[in-house]
Amino acid sequence: MTNKVTIVGSINVDRILQIDQLPQSGETIRMQDFSIAAGGKGANQAVAAARSGAQTSFIGAVGQDLDGQMMLNKLRDNQVNTNAIEVMNSSATGQAYILLQATGQNSIIISAGANADVSADQVKANQALIIQADFVMAQFETPLAATIQAFEIAQANRTITILNPAPATAALSEELLQLTDIIVPNETEAANLTGIEITNETSMRAAADKFFALGVKVVIITLGSRGVFMARAGFDKIIPAVTVTAVDTTAAGDTFIGSLASELHADFSNLEAAIVYANRASALTVQKLGAFPSIPTRAEVVASI
Ligand code: RIB
Ligand code: NA
Repeated sequence: MTNKVTIVGSINVDRILQIDQLPQSGETIRMQDFSIAAGGKGANQAVAAARSGAQTSFIGAVGQDLDGQMMLNKLRDNQVNTNAIEVMNSSATGQAYILLQATGQNSIIISAGANADVSADQVKANQALIIQADFVMAQFETPLAATIQAFEIAQANRTITILNPAPATAALSEELLQLTDIIVPNETEAANLTGIEITNETSMRAAADKFFALGVKVVIITLGSRGVFMARAGFDKIIPAVTVTAVDTTAAGDTFIGSLASELHADFSNLEAAIVYANRASALTVQKLGAFPSIPTRAEVVASI
């Protein structure tokens, strides 16, 4: 059974500045290396889903520029349906400046560009892609109104909604969480949304309970190299990560979510196995530079087990 996955999300060109460590205020440092890669949280999640075998469609926007053309081509090369991606003539394609340190950790500065133009009307015009999907996924790099519209259509049509509340925002949208079936935050994002500082399993459980109270069915808190905390009502568990040496953690979370959506059964019956698979996929991603170039195929994930 091949899952159908539709993403409402961002598309960025990533400009990767490889440095030893972040400069201090007022300091000038040298770059070790520079590269450009396809990225954006939404696009990364789409490519991860598609490379793991899902039939994947995308609702988003790029600018009418060379970056936009490149991103459309890269998505198509990965079998992502790009028919619902708008090409805006008044905005540039989204950009991300990634400060990648020698440790593999990164700091990211984004310029939303056309990602900010994704609208509820655009989502509505492409609602067939949500109605026919098993899963619809969204992040916080495109406007909230578009995501709420997508999740409303999904809920009315028994499509499962997956929210990756990244990058972290302070404001909690109860309306959105009420439409969310599966939420996948990291520790910071979980803390921002619930007001509970995530320090141990007790606090993770408390955060999960807050999400459950709003109607969320599955909570998965990603813990980086420690793995993930997964919870359903009355059950929770830490599923450890695969230990690897990180070259570039960019898109690790996106790979986790995209490959999970490809693997998970709509009744959640294989949730743990799907998480183990997604952990494997993201362990492969952190071992390579760049977002799209580091996202593994199903064959690569299976070979790594
Ligand atoms: O999650 C990683 C992504 O965040 C990068 O590809 C960059 O584009 C930013 O959006
Ligand atoms: Na990577």
